[in-house]
Amino acid sequence: MTVTGEFGDIDNGHIDPKIYTDQAIYERELEQVFGRSWLFLAHDSQLPKRGSFVQTYMGEDPVLVVRQGDGSVKAFLNQCRHRGMRICRSDEGTNKTFTCSYHGWAYDLEGNLINVPMEDRAYRKEIDKSRWGAVKVRVEEYKGFYFGTWSEDVPEFTDYLGDMAFYFDAVVGRWDNGLELVPMTSKWVIDCNWKFASEQSASDMYHVPFSHASARMALTDKPEEWPMRWGDAPPGRQFSGNGHGSGSVWLPTLGIPDLVSGQDYVDWLVSNQAEVFRNIGEERALKVYAHNTIFPNFSWLGPNATMRVWHPRGPGQVEVWSWTYVPKDAPQNIKADIRRGVQRTFGPAGSFETDDGENWTEVQQVLKGWKARQSKLNAQMGLGHEERDVHGLPGLSNDVFSETAARGFYRRWADLMAGLSWAEIRDQDAARERQETILPKEVQEV
Ligand code: FES
Ligand code: FE
Repeated sequence: MTVTGEFGDIDNGHIDPKIYTDQAIYERELEQVFGRSWLFLAHDSQLPKRGSFVQTYMGEDPVLVVRQGDGSVKAFLNQCRHRGMRICRSDEGTNKTFTCSYHGWAYDLEGNLINVPMEDRAYRKEIDKSRWGAVKVRVEEYKGFYFGTWSEDVPEFTDYLGDMAFYFDAVVGRWDNGLELVPMTSKWVIDCNWKFASEQSASDMYHVPFSHASARMALTDKPEEWPMRWGDAPPGRQFSGNGHGSGSVWLPTLGIPDLVSGQDYVDWLVSNQAEVFRNIGEERALKVYAHNTIFPNFSWLGPNATMRVWHPRGPGQVEVWSWTYVPKDAPQNIKADIRRGVQRTFGPAGSFETDDGENWTEVQQVLKGWKARQSKLNAQMGLGHEERDVHGLPGLSNDVFSETAARGFYRRWADLMAGLSWAEIRDQDAARERQETILPKEVQEV
């Protein structure tokens, strides 16, 4: 079954611009894409003890993520079942119970309704509290990262990750004692569709030498050592699978792209590289580090830099929630160096971040034009040149200067938008894989 036609011929790299602007498509996305995918909720380090909680979003739905008494993590819709107020209005903290600030209904750490003020007089003892708890989220943990979904249909998280686990593990399995998120979330709003940001993080290394040329020159006193320059960029690959994407140029040694965090950090990184090589292998440490997206909207950059969620806020806006992540066992001065490096590059006012945001807002602005939404956009780079399981990298991949992961991202998006069940999606993926193996596609005219 072909389902991509409604939004352009994505298999052939055609993208219909209305997927970035149309309100009705956006409403459908919230239900079909955000309602039926695994979404990042929180990391272990944000929930240190019983009752620790953070508030986040699944699409536009506010949810509370809470550490339980038994150490597990549960999540529920942050919506009081009485009149729909947020049950908890704090961003984060520690609680024994959550009490709604409107009329005082109280919920326990699992989201069960446990107290209704003046229950005897107001409800004549007739309310069944067990039926009016908060709506629960299905939660799974992967190496300290908690993901949630509203769907019972979506496969278990490790199946959902598929080959992307190899690329995610390059970060989450890098250090003996794991990672932690630096406390506090940076949040900002960009006037662009969420897919520009998420797709770019899955796929787009092509913009780096061009869009970030001046930032690269300004940020390091060794720009000549920077790996991404026109013409002489080292080899690199891009992975695509299950809508996820990962891309990197290959480093001759650890540390080069981390110069903006300072020489102390690079020296520390090099002096601890044996630990990294032991955990994830030298090849993977040097080949897998740059930009990544777990479909639909969780992305990270670099081995010790930034993770973020692209929360959708209507077709023309995205709210970025971003964290700096650091090796848990790194000395404090190194953690501070990494944090400063991220602020300089991918903080809200970072040189690279603002380069990216400007591109996306400009495109969104152009798409206000009627005529600008009539022609398909081109995502054909590298079409038909994908390979499987090459260069020690599992799954489907292509040269890093390709849009294989972008096409994979939009194909999965279109599958979900068409309402395919996850069983149908699996069948379709298997058919595509056979087709890719037997019949290389031809690049067609737009
Ligand atoms: Fe929460 Fe009324 S809306 S108690
Ligand atoms: Fe960029």
